Amino acid sequence: MKIPALRIVLLGGGNLAYHLSKALSGLPGYPLVQIWTRSPKQARALGVRSNCAFTHRLHELDSRANLYILCVSDDSIGSLAGELTGFIPPDAAVIHTSGSKPSTLFKSLYNNYGVLYPLQTFSKQKKINFSGIPLFITASNRSTEALLSHLAHQLSQEVRVIQDSARLKLHLAAVLVNNFTNYIYTLTDDYLQSQGLDLRSFYPLIEETLAKLKTMKPAQAQTGPARRHDKTVIDQHLSLLKKLKQEELQTIYRLFSTMIWKKYPLTGPPGRD
Ligand SMILES: NC(=O)c1ccc[n+]([C@@H]2O[C@H](COP(=O)([O-])OP(=O)(O)OC[C@H]3O[C@@H](n4cnc5c(N)ncnc54)[C@H](OP(=O)(O)O)[C@@H]3O)[C@@H](O)[C@H]2O)c1
Repeated sequence: MKIPALRIVLLGGGNLAYHLSKALSGLPGYPLVQIWTRSPKQARALGVRSNCAFTHRLHELDSRANLYILCVSDDSIGSLAGELTGFIPPDAAVIHTSGSKPSTLFKSLYNNYGVLYPLQTFSKQKKINFSGIPLFITASNRSTEALLSHLAHQLSQEVRVIQDSARLKLHLAAVLVNNFTNYIYTLTDDYLQSQGLDLRSFYPLIEETLAKLKTMKPAQAQTGPARRHDKTVIDQHLSLLKKLKQEELQTIYRLFSTMIWKKYPLTGPPGRD
């Protein structure tokens, strides 16, 4: 299948658009032709940073592009897609980047539509290299899939084609491994700071947890008082959290300890932490 030269308009100026625009602007042939954000200041800043045209007005969108990437908050994808119809070519491909919204959000508006979902967490403050990020693509037809696959392979070595339903399952898992663990880091950081202690001392432990995950199943790597059914230590920790009025940590500690305790009946050798 012959793939046309990419001419991309990126809509959005948030965390992902900030990194995606930079990655797109570095591709051969300079496929990123324009950035749109609803704020004029942000449009200019991103356009200058990515060396492409920019606008905050939908009627000024480049109508010669063949791919429009809606990289805006999940709840605004549908309404923005509707507003775009008068300003972009009817045969252009329109995609979003959300893990939880279906590609069929565009079905009644466009023939060529899809999703490019990067399985990663993006914040403007943190630099990121796109080449190792798994990119999951979904497309309404073969030509759109070929176009998205062509683009995704230029950005990353990890590209897979999936259905909407599979992407939602991935997104749920991403929430578990990233958003939830990060919230535990947040609570732990607050607790440590309140006690004059430092999260940085825990970096080697956090890094080793990840390193083990890459060489063994997480279920085998589990250690700690709940894994050993060590009620004395668990009660000690819970009463310390109570004394320190760390209510959220108390709830999480009790819940996780109960679940780990149940998962590991005391048959094998206990894990050590
Ligand atoms: N960040 C991640 O880690 C990540 C990872 C994978 C996928 N995604 C997906 O990527 C998309 C963008 O996420 P993000 O994290 O970049 O979001 P974000 O940082 O919250 O930025 C949201 C962007 O959407 C714009 N926006 C909000 N409401 C709008 C509206 N009604 N009309 C037009 N623009 C509107 C915002 O404009 P203002 O700045 O003017 O408010 C901002 O540019 C989402 O679909 C998200 O699920 C994000």
